[in-house]
Amino acid sequence: MMTASTAFFSKFSLAGQVALVTGSARGLGLCMARALAGCGAHVLVNGRQTGAVDAAVAAMKAEGMAASALSFDVTDDAASQAAFARLDAEFGRLDILVNNVGMRLRKTLAAATAAEIRELLEVDLVAGMLLSKRAAERMVRQQYGRLITVTSVLGEVTRAGDALYPAAKQGLTGMMRALATEYARHGITSNAIAPGTFVTETNVAMAADPQIGPAVGARNPMGRWGQPEEIATAAVFLASPASSFVNGHVLVVDGGLSVQM
Ligand SMILES: NC(=O)c1ccc[n+]([C@@H]2O[C@H](COP(=O)([O-])OP(=O)(O)OC[C@H]3O[C@@H](n4cnc5c(N)ncnc54)[C@H](OP(=O)(O)O)[C@@H]3O)[C@@H](O)[C@H]2O)c1
Repeated sequence: MMTASTAFFSKFSLAGQVALVTGSARGLGLCMARALAGCGAHVLVNGRQTGAVDAAVAAMKAEGMAASALSFDVTDDAASQAAFARLDAEFGRLDILVNNVGMRLRKTLAAATAAEIRELLEVDLVAGMLLSKRAAERMVRQQYGRLITVTSVLGEVTRAGDALYPAAKQGLTGMMRALATEYARHGITSNAIAPGTFVTETNVAMAADPQIGPAVGARNPMGRWGQPEEIATAAVFLASPASSFVNGHVLVVDGGLSVQM
């Protein structure tokens, strides 16, 4: 029997839905992939190293989750098109895209080479735009979809000496907002998750550094780094029917880091 409580929680169910989470063999992507699968979605796990992707899929399946590998480099447009063709053939739909791949380069504009600027924009901005375009095409056909773009607190604010990454992430924020207005009438929402500082593989060395690690934690109002699992509930909310009227929003998950002076 459906009670008021089960009807409410069913809004967070992703049963029958297909989700692609880019860069989900480890880090925040893996946590989000596992959370979406835990809520019933069939999740396509992505990364460049097929071994790591296959291992993540095997671990999820061993826990009873529905997952498959969709390994490709998001900056390789031919590989991305081929992957979407495989997705079409196998599932015939895509309900959720979590655009999660991102590369971090801490540099002043003065110190950056043209090649570094181009590479960062390719990975952090152009790939996300092409994947969103491809996903939206399918979501328009379905008249349903959830586009989720992983930005950063630096998708909202900036700081001296760090000109490249915020430029790309703020570009993604702009794309996310434009898509929110463009596709809303097709049953598609477009939102962003802006993480603060999380202890993922990318940041392990920084977090373990006795000078930097505790200092980064201390400057957060919560006095600590985020744990990767703490991003997962934000992804479930934005991916689920529970967020049906949330569109064009940046859900900042940073412990309050970006609102303090
Ligand atoms: N961690 C943080 O504190 C933090 C803070 C703010 C924002 N973010 C954002 O959150 C997202 C995830 O960060 P993370 O720290 O979890 O990353 P991560 O630990 O470095 O995870 C990266 C994942 O992406 C895959 N990947 C990297 N380049 C790829 C490519 N070109 N094509 C396909 N897959 C690729 C990696 O697998 P392969 O190497 O096998 O390809 C891996 O599975 C990024 O957009 C990042 O900018 C993170």
